[in-house]
Amino acid sequence: MSGAHRISLIHDDLPAMDDDELRRGKPTCHFQFDEATAILAGDALLTYAFELLTHSKIPDSAKVNCVRSLAVRSGYSGMVGGQMADTVGETHEPNRELMDYIHAHKTGDLITCACELGAYCAEASADELERLRLFGRHCGLAFQVSDDICDHTSTSEEMGKQVGKDDDAGKQNAVRVHGMRQAREIVSDSVEKACEALEIFGSDAQDLVQLVRWLKERRS
Ligand code: IPE
Ligand code: MG
Ligand code: MG
Ligand code: MG
Repeated sequence: MSGAHRISLIHDDLPAMDDDELRRGKPTCHFQFDEATAILAGDALLTYAFELLTHSKIPDSAKVNCVRSLAVRSGYSGMVGGQMADTVGETHEPNRELMDYIHAHKTGDLITCACELGAYCAEASADELERLRLFGRHCGLAFQVSDDICDHTSTSEEMGKQVGKDDDAGKQNAVRVHGMRQAREIVSDSVEKACEALEIFGSDAQDLVQLVRWLKERRS
């Protein structure tokens, strides 16, 4: 899962995509090395994620579910599909429907995948799995909309990456599409829905609740 997340960022930063030179306060992969290395590092990390899954000690049926989740959520109908729509969206006027698709897939699917993998490994019940998926969906939306807000309000030092580029690139950024006030409301609303989805887990979910609540005040 972490491999799929890293590859999404290494490729997201490439000149053909967002063309960024700074990530987590360090030079991006292609900037530090070169484009070929960044493309291949991404390919290697994604395939390595599947290799790692085959080594895990979980039952084979859970392994198959994990492999499917990782493939579907990071593939053409998941993160890659969302990233493609994000790129195409640069040539469209602000469009809520398109932005919802982008957010749900480029970010929501990756976070939902992390939730599904945990659920499969812990042999969660069908109801628990659905609740974790719901959490992932709302957490993903809150994460991406808050990232879009930070692109307007945070500094490059705080974020460890370049900011203020989304509007210039014509991105379907939540602030550009909805305005700042509504974007903040979407974050609050999604955080509350994410927390509600976790209610059945009681105090076992307190770390996840704390994590998602942080999105309301994040500047980094
Ligand atoms: C990227 O969204 C989402 C994925 C990498 C899947 P952004 O382009 O907004 O992410 P940042 O701002 O570069 O981190
Ligand atoms: Mg991007
Ligand atoms: Mg980017
Ligand atoms: Mg961003």
